[in-house]
Amino acid sequence: MGKPLRWGILGAANIAIRQVIPGIQKGASGTVVAIASRTGVKAEQAARDLGIPRAHGSYEALIEDAEVDAIYNPLPNHLHVPWSVKAADAGKHVLCEKPIGLNAQEVLELIDARDRNKVVVGEAFMVRAQPRWLAVKRLVAEGRIGEVGLIVGHFSYNRRDPNDVRSHLEWGGGALLDVGSYPITLSRWLFGEEPTEVVALIERDPEFGIDRLTSAILRFPRGQASFTCAGQLVLHQRFQVLGSRGRIEVEVPYNPPADKPSRLVIDEGKGLALEGAEVMEFPAVNQYAVQAEAFAAAVRGEGEVPVTLEDAMANMRVIDALFRSSETRQWERVAR
Ligand SMILES: NC(=O)c1ccc[n+]([C@@H]2O[C@H](COP(=O)([O-])OP(=O)(O)OC[C@H]3O[C@@H](n4cnc5c(N)ncnc54)[C@H](OP(=O)(O)O)[C@@H]3O)[C@@H](O)[C@H]2O)c1
Repeated sequence: MGKPLRWGILGAANIAIRQVIPGIQKGASGTVVAIASRTGVKAEQAARDLGIPRAHGSYEALIEDAEVDAIYNPLPNHLHVPWSVKAADAGKHVLCEKPIGLNAQEVLELIDARDRNKVVVGEAFMVRAQPRWLAVKRLVAEGRIGEVGLIVGHFSYNRRDPNDVRSHLEWGGGALLDVGSYPITLSRWLFGEEPTEVVALIERDPEFGIDRLTSAILRFPRGQASFTCAGQLVLHQRFQVLGSRGRIEVEVPYNPPADKPSRLVIDEGKGLALEGAEVMEFPAVNQYAVQAEAFAAAVRGEGEVPVTLEDAMANMRVIDALFRSSETRQWERVAR
């Protein structure tokens, strides 16, 4: 396999501390060699807690660290593109958190930076590398549920904290960028094509201005996807793919526990109480470890990152069109 990829972590973010760093450390393909925070003390604390050799008191110092091959960027959304560009310009590969940026236009800068520096850059939609989701993709491609006509999803959580990065409009806060982006990436991937037009109803938090409740419909050439997402409603996740002969339900689609098996239900509609439905069980897996392995493989030249920047930009185009639709109160075409 060669030498493990040496990761540097840009900011002591919750997602980094709780999931992504332990995920990298679980696998053999990578090792976390450094972490940076805006304050040295916080970086040192995180490094101690997680057994990371080096702590940097600035993001610049991490990016200039010659012993780092790849940067993981879990900064607030408005800092995804700027810091990923800086990292790429320093010759580092970059795994950047979702959503890749604030809008599709911004992603062009990162594509340019990737290409001029010849580095690998990917968007961290961990679900897109996970074995259970790869099985959904395979089942759909094999025609197990017939022709897919409809994809339906929901993703909500309840967090109204003025200090949360999601509560700041200008930082790319709100639920659509945060969690609505998941059913969009998954429905585009499963249909294997881009939606042509979309419509959205968006309700905003009166104080923060961020979107807190969205209902969206995406028209694809071969079907429809509809989803709801919310940042101030009860925690819940659902995802179903409906075809002419069957339906796949992905239980706890986005954040299944890493220490328990996860399931898919394949229902051929013999009755309304799941008569004859098949349950597929998948062994417990740390999806952040899988994501790190897939990224390291791409750096070694063994295939593409699971979510390329072109794919990430197409996702942002859908999000841009949904925001436009909520303003115009009309269907909006998705830019090409
Ligand atoms: N893939 C997933 O499963 C998943 C799950 C959750 C979140 N995410 C994504 O990860 C990113 C971070 O989310 P999070 O919940 O981990 O957020 P968070 O805990 O608030 O972390 C963001 C980090 O960014 C740094 N930062 C830089 N400038 C900042 C500013 N002006 N205000 C606040 N923080 C600033 C801070 O690090 P320092 O103070 O150390 O510099 C902070 O710890 C988001 O893009 C989110 O969409 C992904």
